[in-house]
Amino acid sequence: MKVLVILGSRNPEGQTARAAAALAMGAQAEGAEVEQVFLPTLRIERCRQCDENGWGTCLSQGECEIADDQAGLVAKLRAADAGVFATPVYFADLSESLKAFLDRLRRTCLHEAGKAGIAGKPAVGVCVAGGRGGGGPACAATLERVLQTCGFDLRDVVPVRRQNLEMKLAVLTHTGKWLAAG
Ligand SMILES: Cc1cc2nc3c(=O)[nH]c(=O)nc-3n(C[C@H](O)[C@H](O)[C@H](O)COP(=O)(O)O)c2cc1C
Repeated sequence: MKVLVILGSRNPEGQTARAAAALAMGAQAEGAEVEQVFLPTLRIERCRQCDENGWGTCLSQGECEIADDQAGLVAKLRAADAGVFATPVYFADLSESLKAFLDRLRRTCLHEAGKAGIAGKPAVGVCVAGGRGGGGPACAATLERVLQTCGFDLRDVVPVRRQNLEMKLAVLTHTGKWLAAG
């Protein structure tokens, strides 16, 4: 099984990366192949709301017309058997990089061509509130909604706060094993 882990953090040594690595370790223990992508290293623009109604080729063709790294990452996601979406909690919400990616993905998933290889794919979300620790559940609710709009088979969203990170690492490793075990 191939698991693609998409991180909305720019810090490979940070708390979101630690949480994602714990989940990846569990998945690998079940024989999964794991690839990680840090979104801020890619060029992914925010949606341009192309026409006067706010739609564009997302609605008519199931693909976004912006020529940046979005399409390549969506292709990687299609090729994976499961997706993991890990974000630092910013203002009790997703990080800007994950929000930009998922805002555009959910639009294309309204079209049959766009939802191919995405709808029904198992997914897990991870939200890491690494500051004062608040906002994880609110962020998790937003992540749940957007992943469901994309059509993923959302298996779980795990809120984490700085104060319980060590305990949640063990939960995430079990979650990764469980995800990879199907
Ligand atoms: C713009 C911004 C907003 C933030 N909002 C919150 C928040 O609502 N709750 C919280 O606990 N931490 C908040 N933080 C702290 C981040 O959650 C913390 O820096 C993050 O977990 C670090 O992740 P990383 O180590 O993966 O970079 C915020 C940080 C930034 C930069």
